[in-house]
Amino acid sequence: AGTLGAAAAGKGRYFGTAVAVNHLGEAPYVSTLDTEFTAVTPENEMKWDAVEPNRGSFNFSAADQIVSHAQSRGMKVRGHTLVWHSQLPGWVGGLSASDLRTAMNNHINQVMAHYKGKIYSWDVVNEAYQDGSSGARRSSPFQDKLGNGFIEEAFRTARAADPAAKLCYNDYNTDGVNAKSNAVYAMVKDFKARGVPIDCVGFQSHFNSASPVPADYQANLQRFADLGVDVQITELDIEGSGSSQAAGYSNVVNACLAVTRCTGITVWGITDKYSWRSSGTPLLFDSNYSKKPAYTAVLTAL
Ligand code: XIL
Repeated sequence: AGTLGAAAAGKGRYFGTAVAVNHLGEAPYVSTLDTEFTAVTPENEMKWDAVEPNRGSFNFSAADQIVSHAQSRGMKVRGHTLVWHSQLPGWVGGLSASDLRTAMNNHINQVMAHYKGKIYSWDVVNEAYQDGSSGARRSSPFQDKLGNGFIEEAFRTARAADPAAKLCYNDYNTDGVNAKSNAVYAMVKDFKARGVPIDCVGFQSHFNSASPVPADYQANLQRFADLGVDVQITELDIEGSGSSQAAGYSNVVNACLAVTRCTGITVWGITDKYSWRSSGTPLLFDSNYSKKPAYTAVLTAL
């Protein structure tokens, strides 16, 4: 097949990209999106600060534009994200524990109700664990005021809000076997043992020379899949250029294809022109929307 989306579909997977609403008026951005990709993730438009900037006051207009674009073209939508310490409006951190619990559940209920039936998978909780060797939870208003149970509570609320959406835990630096991924693994194992609803784990997969594609990437995806969840590559980008970057992308695609429950790959943007990693060139299309060696490597591997 001649496009990323068609080639991935031939392997039973989707191939997605993060999309930013402010570029949907740029013709080559939209034509590349519509030609190559079969799934989208709103890059910022579904985050808490975007959809509920003030308590109880919801604004879905930016995210709605992305969802309707995707729906009209038959693309999947990954919802990103419901409960995260970052891009969180200040009012959330100022709440008492009992108000925070109410606000968290209300946020999940309102956002998921608005998009009910339209979302393939939701990142219910994003980045709840610390980096490094501790395997500990990260400090956040949710962790600090509600304790370890906040993740379970968020997933239970999410399941009731839209039973058709797959519910994911999503994080970075969990791509290989390490203390952080071990902690997430233990949580997922515990959830499955106790019947806490979870369907998938997202591996962000932001790579660079200091943090390359781990040698045990496939093995790590497989051990999570073996717990009975889908795995997804959710925010892939690889800094660098040329053949070394292309080789990294091939490794990621090959790892996903080797894991039956790896259901799809999402790159974190279409073009280097708009990558969040402004110092780099981590994506598949250059700033003129030309296909890079990394693009060819992905298409060949699929
Ligand atoms: C990034 C966006 O790409 C940027 O535009 C924004 O300024 C900051 O957030 N992990 C995530 C994503 O889960 O939501 C982040 O996206 C990148 C890291």
